[in-house]
Amino acid sequence: MVDQSEDRSTVLAHDDVPLPVPALRWEEPPEGPVLVLIDQTRLPAEEVELVCTDVPALVEAIRSLAVRGAPLLGLAGAYGVALAAARGYDVTDAAEQLAHARPTAANLAHGVRRAERAFRAAVDGGAEYEEAAAVTLAEARALHREDAEASERMAGHGLALLGELLPGGGYRVLTHCNTGTLVSGGGGTAFGVVRAVHRAGELRRLWVDETRPLLQGARLTAYEAAREGMAYTLLTDSAAGSLFAAGEVDAVLVGADRIAADGSVANKVGTYPLAVLARYHHVPFVVVAPLTTVDLTTADGGSIELEQRPGHEVTEFAAPSAPGAGAEAGSGIPVAPLGAQAYNPAFDVTPAELITAVVTERGVISPVTGDALAELCAAAPPP
Ligand code: MRU
Repeated sequence: MVDQSEDRSTVLAHDDVPLPVPALRWEEPPEGPVLVLIDQTRLPAEEVELVCTDVPALVEAIRSLAVRGAPLLGLAGAYGVALAAARGYDVTDAAEQLAHARPTAANLAHGVRRAERAFRAAVDGGAEYEEAAAVTLAEARALHREDAEASERMAGHGLALLGELLPGGGYRVLTHCNTGTLVSGGGGTAFGVVRAVHRAGELRRLWVDETRPLLQGARLTAYEAAREGMAYTLLTDSAAGSLFAAGEVDAVLVGADRIAADGSVANKVGTYPLAVLARYHHVPFVVVAPLTTVDLTTADGGSIELEQRPGHEVTEFAAPSAPGAGAEAGSGIPVAPLGAQAYNPAFDVTPAELITAVVTERGVISPVTGDALAELCAAAPPP
């Protein structure tokens, strides 16, 4: 297969893009179906669409973080299998490539396998190839709808939880990485709750960690917060400690990439130190994630595979046209001596005992234990 990704290089005017920004969509031009992504490596400098016409292009978009964030990775995976089916590629091979494009977010393999199962069931049931491809696309679309619904439910549950934890309202919320419309078929995970708090008139301030080294907080969360008209302030990750010490944080809200059976949470690197700070300063630390992020087959936090990213993401600041993610080594401005080694895990693990509550579309667990998580996963979905 040839990499046929095409950079549509549409620079979209801010006012032309209503919220929510569609982070990903399926299109069927006469040349054949494509998956259109907002290239998140170029935000906020440019709003550029990336058109993926085949699976290698999509795998590259996932690896370079053009498309990113756990729930959206699930959708990209499912649509990727649909793309392979629709274009007559080897679906098994496509599913393997997509499922392993990044290791940590449980949603990616979940979306891929769900679409692959739908394709396989259709073929085994005697469907013609075209029909099986249509069934696969319908499954990806169903996941997309469910993810949007999950966002809405999580926002409602999260808002109610904050009301219980912090009577009085007027919250100053700290968040890390990017968890809004850009990572979801709907309004997002932690940022979805922040938006609900904002719309309820109860958001006094959103503290946005810049999220080193690829700046998902500065580039993406600040971008979403600005569009929502929120009162937000950006800080370097290392400034969070002094903010807690000054009593300026009422709650921490973050997303998750994988929740293990013991309730441990893998999320963007820098999440664990925030949980430690929150515990020390008696501030609620809340994780917001759909059930597609829960992986009961991974026993505990130590068993979660944490992605290691290239060192140049730490040793170089990217050129302005490539604000961080996806940039080639040597294309940025060096901020360390040539040849410096860098430790660059993309995620860390927060143990359940440091988490006040996990908010899902099916409800909230608090305290966070393996038993509570298993019970929630076994419960019937809401009507
Ligand atoms: O490396 P990224 O940008 O894909 O990491 C994303 C995160 O860590 C998010 O916090 C996470 O996926 C949770 S909610 C979208």
